[in-house]
Amino acid sequence: MRVGVLTGGGDCPGLNAVIRAVVLKGSEAHGWEFVGFRNGWRGPLTGETKPLGRDDVEGILTRGGTILGSSRTNPYKEDNGVERIRAVLAEQGVDALIAIGGEDTLGVAKRLTDDGINVVGVPKTIDNDLAATDYTFGFDTAVQIATDAIDRLHTTAESHHRALVVEVMGRHAGWIALHSGLAGGASVILVPERPFSVDQVVEWVERRFEREYAPIIVVAEGALPEGGAEMLQSGEKDAFGHVRLGGVGTWLAEEIATRTGKESRAVVLGHVQRGGTPTAYDRVLATRFGLHAVDAVADGDFGVMTALRGTDIVRVKLAEATAELKTVPAERYAEAEAFFG
Ligand code: F6P
Repeated sequence: MRVGVLTGGGDCPGLNAVIRAVVLKGSEAHGWEFVGFRNGWRGPLTGETKPLGRDDVEGILTRGGTILGSSRTNPYKEDNGVERIRAVLAEQGVDALIAIGGEDTLGVAKRLTDDGINVVGVPKTIDNDLAATDYTFGFDTAVQIATDAIDRLHTTAESHHRALVVEVMGRHAGWIALHSGLAGGASVILVPERPFSVDQVVEWVERRFEREYAPIIVVAEGALPEGGAEMLQSGEKDAFGHVRLGGVGTWLAEEIATRTGKESRAVVLGHVQRGGTPTAYDRVLATRFGLHAVDAVADGDFGVMTALRGTDIVRVKLAEATAELKTVPAERYAEAEAFFG
């Protein structure tokens, strides 16, 4: 058996841990050979490959990013995309693919399965917005990075009696904002799922200042004011139809300064949240996903994704995993509201 491996979409810490687990278990337990496809779906589309043997995965457990490279290539937007992938897989003698990615990469994996290609998916994304799994790897690391930043911002905000607005990633789901805001003791957390009232935010900020504490406002990049729209860095769409968000933090910091008369600053954490070494939790989760993806291939169980349910790794249909995004439920946001102001 020869198995292809690829990583697609935005990178995240833990991708290399999956690749390592897949290659070590697949070669040791089953005697399989592996080939790495470079840069997401572009690899199987164009035939860009990378050797993937035991030696190639030595020492990568702790390394962030992905040794295979990534891209947001969508084969269904390319001329004869599926036929070209079929031809490359045949040329490479590949019997099955393990695709590690988020909603877009796994959405393609689902369609390719429907088109008769053997694919097993592994869920990754710092956004934690994939349905059918309790957590994706990469999320814990991103939350830790954001929490460390918030801890540091508290002390400088206190020294200068300023409001600090921290913009974190999260296009359509506010999981990073919710968890880092809770862990970091934020005065306000704003998520895409709940349009916010600027008046209400200003009231919370003022209440916090009255108690001689400097407010920290954590805002997801996709959060939007009531009656307003998401703020864009660029309206240009990628191959999956996503625009680039950003700017809500700076905008809100200016609104707060104008309305309260207090100094206010914005910090955009951006891609720092996706970089560097994964936390222990993400290393373990990514490793377990990799091991179970190999089991799925060995069972000939294609069109599935590994998923975390409680503490167990299970298999779910890719169709179920990609049907809709997992957003922050109202009751989880309501828990955090107890600490606002
Ligand atoms: O999907 C993960 C993610 O980090 C989002 O949170 C963010 O909006 C997006 O990717 C950024 O994409 P890019 O790296 O292409 O700018």
